[in-house]
Amino acid sequence: MIVNADGSLVHDHDPWWRTDVVYQIYPRSFADTTGNGVGDLRGIIAHLDHVADLGVDAIWLSPFYRSPMADFGYDISDHCDVDPLFGSLADADELIRAAHERDLRVVVDFVPNHVSDQHEWFMAARSSVDDPHRDWFVWRDPAPDGGPPNNWSAAFGQDSAWTLDEASGQYYLHLFLPEQPDVDWNRQGVVDEMHDVLRFWMDRGVDGFRADVVHCIGKSEQLPDMPAELVGLPAMLQDFGPGTHEQLRGLRRVVDSTTGEHLLVGETYVLDPAQMASYLGHGDELHLAFNIAALHCPWDAQKWRETIESTDALLDPVGAWPTWVLSNHDERRHRSRYGSDARARAAAVLLLTLRGTPFLYMGEELGLADAVVAPEKVVDPGGRDGCRAPLPWTSADGHGWATEPWLPFPPEAGSHSVEAETGTPGSMLEHYRRLLRLRRAVPALHRGDLVLLDAPAGVLRWHRSAAPRHGDGSDTPSVVEVAINFTDRTVAGAIGAGLVLGGTVVEPDELSEGPGVLGPDEARIVAVA
Ligand code: GLC
Repeated sequence: MIVNADGSLVHDHDPWWRTDVVYQIYPRSFADTTGNGVGDLRGIIAHLDHVADLGVDAIWLSPFYRSPMADFGYDISDHCDVDPLFGSLADADELIRAAHERDLRVVVDFVPNHVSDQHEWFMAARSSVDDPHRDWFVWRDPAPDGGPPNNWSAAFGQDSAWTLDEASGQYYLHLFLPEQPDVDWNRQGVVDEMHDVLRFWMDRGVDGFRADVVHCIGKSEQLPDMPAELVGLPAMLQDFGPGTHEQLRGLRRVVDSTTGEHLLVGETYVLDPAQMASYLGHGDELHLAFNIAALHCPWDAQKWRETIESTDALLDPVGAWPTWVLSNHDERRHRSRYGSDARARAAAVLLLTLRGTPFLYMGEELGLADAVVAPEKVVDPGGRDGCRAPLPWTSADGHGWATEPWLPFPPEAGSHSVEAETGTPGSMLEHYRRLLRLRRAVPALHRGDLVLLDAPAGVLRWHRSAAPRHGDGSDTPSVVEVAINFTDRTVAGAIGAGLVLGGTVVEPDELSEGPGVLGPDEARIVAVA
């Protein structure tokens, strides 16, 4: 550890969150040990070897805190306790220990923008306008016509972001469900409590935080109307102004205050990449920010080229590092969006060989598509049940779940189970394992620069290169070329010659075409120097 003159910490090595791969676990749907159809922390512990054997370096756990589950855990009623549905604090401690034992770091969700309406702070605030917690939430008198105080819409269905509290005659703000009142970060009490939540989990041994819609926490007292052109879009998409940056600097100080090795990655759910980049500050706000524009990028070489170029142009000047995410618990899985196994295989090459930190979502290593959820089985107010389907562990009926899980299984769960894909040549699981091994072994892939190369239409092609460092293997290549054919045609002149390190074909000697030629939706990685 090295300390700057001003006392802040600097790293004498790449911080782990730049080189590592993070695997997201949605606890409800990972593995169930109690037989109630809902996954739990002991289920995660029981299957940690699957995660470690996959070759990722860290897990990010979606919320497992006490919650009435109106938003399946993103409505927290106690940040410092585990919901009995998921287990106990002792289970969380055991999970952190078991992950560390396997060299897996642990990132937990931190939900700073809102709490559950059943949280003791909100119940107190609602009980009386004179309660000391009243102003920890955002209360306003009705507009002159009796309607909501401004034109903001909530996410999920786009109704007003305000709910009238009949008892006091005031509205309270909620950027999400009415059961998720926004807290007011203009109050020092809120800031102190939220900082303490971070300290609580750092003391228990976690390695970082994924901060939920963290760009929303710096609202001004004025709460101005959204501009006319944005009316009807969820209010969470807007730029809330300088307040957020000040709060992010505060969170960063807390996260950096112990070993200097903890991660703060923000779910900056905004559509404008420049706005996303702004939350990285000058190296003093978020360490990493999710790039939602890339998550929404279609299977198109030119669109991906533009996304990569614009991301680099925004991040490089501030010395920031990109992130890449193709699937998570809020979006249709990329296997469903991109439409085929072949594309999902090529997308894995993209995700794991671009310059930046990849975040995988549990089940993408099995090639899972979204579950088809019958209308009477729908449970999520945001329409996201399909991507949250339970993980199939075994091929037989039940797929390793003792009772019917809370959501239906994904399509073809038997042939896409961990059991069916483990050790099966050509399976998506073995494809991910091979790519992750390669990425870990080749410094150019986990820390190198990226230069986009000219390529035929429909092909994306780039070099990754890293100067050798002490400790790198002597025979690892320092320059690697990656090319992806996004079309359904065979393309000549798509990639240079070189030793094939990996790609979407099963074995290098199974290349159907000669060097330089890529088949439909084929991706290949070759050593250049
Ligand atoms: C984030 C979460 C999402 C949740 C919302 C409100 O977008 O990823 O699942 O519903 O925040 O907390």
